[in-house]
Amino acid sequence: MAKILRSMFFTIIFAAWVLLASARLHYHGAHSREDIQLNEEVYFESRSKRGVTTLTDYDSDSVFLPADEPDSGAGTADDLPTCLLCVCLTGSVYCEEVAPEMTSVPALPQETAYFYARYNKITKITAKDFEYIVTLKRIDLTGNLISEIEDGAFSKLALLEELSLAENQIVKLPMLPAKLISFNANHNRLKTKGVKANAFKKLTKIANIFLAHNELEAVPQIPESVRVLHLQVNNISSVSDDTFCKGNNTYYIRPNMNEIRMDGNPVVLAQYPNSFTCLKTLPIGRYQ
Ligand SMILES: *[C@@H]1O[C@H](CO)[C@@H](O)[C@H](O)[C@H]1NC(C)=O
Ligand SMILES: *[C@@H]1O[C@H](CO)[C@@H](O)[C@H](O)[C@H]1NC(C)=O
Repeated sequence: MAKILRSMFFTIIFAAWVLLASARLHYHGAHSREDIQLNEEVYFESRSKRGVTTLTDYDSDSVFLPADEPDSGAGTADDLPTCLLCVCLTGSVYCEEVAPEMTSVPALPQETAYFYARYNKITKITAKDFEYIVTLKRIDLTGNLISEIEDGAFSKLALLEELSLAENQIVKLPMLPAKLISFNANHNRLKTKGVKANAFKKLTKIANIFLAHNELEAVPQIPESVRVLHLQVNNISSVSDDTFCKGNNTYYIRPNMNEIRMDGNPVVLAQYPNSFTCLKTLPIGRYQ
């Protein structure tokens, strides 16, 4: 009896040891490099199971360039050259001021939620750029040279909440996706005919609309969800009773709006007193 017990005991100890050793081997073989990088370079981000590749990888022997680039515009972080130029973290891709010049949106890893490509030389957004990246929540393309955006480039991104196209050369708004909360197109060349009156109408969650420093001559329809509206430095010369309020209903109070900037426009707001009776705070702008 004692003999059987003892041999069982040793069998269990041996099995546990084998399991432990193989787990450790796997850990060192597969993940140690990534973990070291995470600890050294991305200390601000919580540890991730997925790989991290940064510019410093350029000279290292572990650089892995796939022989054939995927055409689909999507892949895993590890097999995209994008992650050699940009910093790819779990769910985020940072491509700010990339050298050599980046003139179009790079292929993004699948499951990218946050894409930052500020201050590059991107000239055009095509319908294919984000086609397979339906996980995107935030896109920041501030400070590029974008003058053309193909139809449908953003409109199908059902989870997109923040889109910045500030400091580009856009004359016409793209179709915007329904869940958008914040839209920034400050410092562009937007013309009235490029911003349809109902451009924001279907955006039921939109809270911030930034259209300052453009060439607009009219205010588009502003959904009730909007809290902050920036229209300063445009060419708006008049507003109407229906621009912010409901001309036919003097009891109406606009519930959410708490900042409207109209300064730097020709419009003299005091000439349109019925245009802001529903607002809790006066628009910022010229009154005389
Ligand atoms: C501003 O709008 C007026 C019409 O209201 C137009 O005559 C003028 O050319 C516009 N200015 C600019 C700089 O677009
Ligand atoms: C006020 O105008 C809106 C839009 O023009 C219309 O839908 C609504 O029925 C009008 N309300 C009243 C009380 O006339």
